[in-house]
Amino acid sequence: MIKGTQAIISLFTKPNEKEIKVKKETKKDEFEEVKNLEYFNEQYKERYKSYKEKNPSMDLTQVIKNVNMNLDQTPYEYKIKAKNLNTEKILVNKYYYLEEDYVPDNLQTINRKYALSNMRMVNVAKDAFESLSAAAQKEDLNIIAMSTYRSYTYQVNLYNRYKKQDGEAKADTYSGRPGQSEHQTGLAVDVYNKEEDYTKFHKTKEFLWMKDHAHEYGFILRFPEGKENETGYTYESWHYRYVGKDIATYIHDNNITLEEYYATKIKDW
Ligand code: DAL
Ligand code: ZN
Repeated sequence: MIKGTQAIISLFTKPNEKEIKVKKETKKDEFEEVKNLEYFNEQYKERYKSYKEKNPSMDLTQVIKNVNMNLDQTPYEYKIKAKNLNTEKILVNKYYYLEEDYVPDNLQTINRKYALSNMRMVNVAKDAFESLSAAAQKEDLNIIAMSTYRSYTYQVNLYNRYKKQDGEAKADTYSGRPGQSEHQTGLAVDVYNKEEDYTKFHKTKEFLWMKDHAHEYGFILRFPEGKENETGYTYESWHYRYVGKDIATYIHDNNITLEEYYATKIKDW
């Protein structure tokens, strides 16, 4: 009788061999449904696993994307040298950094009709910005470049000023640390409409025009509302980044960030 009870108990507590095999197989196939994604990176498997454990309700596709964007890492501590230097595919953010001496090739000054004085951008971006601003002017709209290329040293002073003013944690929500501002790429531009302060750009007619047309000239809104988690920065309606027409159109049409584009399309790990 006792023997029989033990047998029943062990039937419920000890997994038999068949069960063990099934469990192992389930484990092995944890990423089955996503491993054919073109941006699934076999080398990141352990990172995917541990990120999924920390975010059990997140679907696997999102897990893969987030890890590819390095969102499982600590910003500023996990540092990767920026790749695709001197191309429109360059990504600079809280993980990808530029060296102190990086100065982009072919910086040119934007025509004063479309910018404050001495505003420089990489030639392709400068030409594209001038076309954009000229097209807007035809509709009586002013889209004026007020901050473009900034050197590493310039960013040191700017960031230190913000840090002193607001503290490091707050400054990090709106300012790139030196080497980690994409203004150093010569492909970023902050704009205003000559009337409103640039921080109110989202309230202007010019902003509405940019929403519909910036991508046609190769520019994207770089830090959109609702994507703070991906970009690492609060919403900036005035900051645009040149990425070329094809990438800009893709990002615009799919409502994604440059981070997600980089992680899923460029895949330059
Ligand atoms: N304001 C943006 C994040 C920069 O400093 O690059
Ligand atoms: Zn900016």
